[in-house]
Amino acid sequence: MANLWDKGFEPDEMIERFTVGDDRRLDMRLARYDVEGSMAHIRMLEHIGLLTADELKTLLGGLEQIRDEIAAGKFEIEEGTEDVHSQVELLLTRRLGEVGKKIHAGRSRNDQVLVDLKLFLRDELRNLAHDARQVFNRLQELSDRYRDVLMPGYTHLQIAMPSSFGLWFGAYAETLVDDLQVMAAAHDIANQNPLGSAAGYGSSFPLDRTMTTRLLGFADLNYNVVAAQMSRGKSERAAAFGIAAVAATLGRFAMDVCLFMSQNFGFVSFPDELTTGSSIMPHKKNPDVFEIMRGKCNRLQSVPNEIALLTTNLPLGYHRDLQLLKDILFPATTTLHDCLTMCDFMLQHIRVRRDILDDARYDYLFTVEDVNRLVLQGVPFREAYRLVGRQVQEGSYRPTREVHHTHEGSIGNLCNDRIRAKMDRVMARFDPKQ
Ligand code: ARG
Repeated sequence: MANLWDKGFEPDEMIERFTVGDDRRLDMRLARYDVEGSMAHIRMLEHIGLLTADELKTLLGGLEQIRDEIAAGKFEIEEGTEDVHSQVELLLTRRLGEVGKKIHAGRSRNDQVLVDLKLFLRDELRNLAHDARQVFNRLQELSDRYRDVLMPGYTHLQIAMPSSFGLWFGAYAETLVDDLQVMAAAHDIANQNPLGSAAGYGSSFPLDRTMTTRLLGFADLNYNVVAAQMSRGKSERAAAFGIAAVAATLGRFAMDVCLFMSQNFGFVSFPDELTTGSSIMPHKKNPDVFEIMRGKCNRLQSVPNEIALLTTNLPLGYHRDLQLLKDILFPATTTLHDCLTMCDFMLQHIRVRRDILDDARYDYLFTVEDVNRLVLQGVPFREAYRLVGRQVQEGSYRPTREVHHTHEGSIGNLCNDRIRAKMDRVMARFDPKQ
């Protein structure tokens, strides 16, 4: 047993297994950030006189070695060690002796895990934003390419008005911009330094928190030490909202694709090798990729709720419950990454049908166009509406099949360049100039 809080008696093994849970596996994702946080912390300790220059040098050397081992996949959290924080300190002490025991002055695992998480979230959210940007680019590319290919637009799932592949692809692109605004807000929330809040009530050492903020590249501090501790759970929840926002858009797009791939629609298709078969029906080419994507994205939308329920009514201060947040949020980041990557891949192979509207069943899509044409000829709108309505009722309506939309954001004027500029502004929030 190598517990940091060892007081000379062995805790029951069952208790240990129950409380540590999956932490050894989950903490592996925090390892590099834990080392980064420790490096900043000891530089600051030396600055305020709690470590000598020599001690700092030795400790930094030890941490660099661990950092390299992590990068090389040679780091592990040993059986009998509680978490990544304990493992790093254990290695330092084992390798460097007494000086290894000095790094924990002025901090607690409570602010240590907070720092790890904030650095982790900052990176994860930025990476996910770049994944989403990739899908955004792909959607805009398709929107531009198929700008002139019309498709039916629906309301109530009933044939409504002409739409286009330019509009359809472009709509999901623009929606992703809003989702990334939510994600950028979560990124800003994560981008604050909690280090120095220690167990949640600060320290009697004259810690230089401004210095560690600068060293770790945080945009600002979580100043109030209690607020800093309370940001555990809140930061994860904000990130989960960002993830859920993107997932909602992606899941909805996946649903559209499933629908449009159905023979009753037949608007889009994919090469055979990207579809899946049936064990009994030889003709099947199923959209399983988009069904799994839809299911995963729907599940991701429960993550903010899971976090809310885990943290609801926890009084201020650290509680071990908070450890379980990792188990909710970490897999969610991986899932969203996988879904975005898969979506980008599938979109490279999507085929669209160009002659959908030639089918007479879509004739009524054009009634509004024909009403508007009459209005432009001077007929009052309500008159024109009645006229075309009567033709439909009598079965004599014949569409003109001419679509001429010019206003911003319409079929004939997608404004994709302006949407791209909006996206550029959001993306800049993830890479602020230091
Ligand atoms: N594994 C713990 C967590 O994620 C680390 C902090 C432990 N702190 C404590 N006081 N037991 O929350």
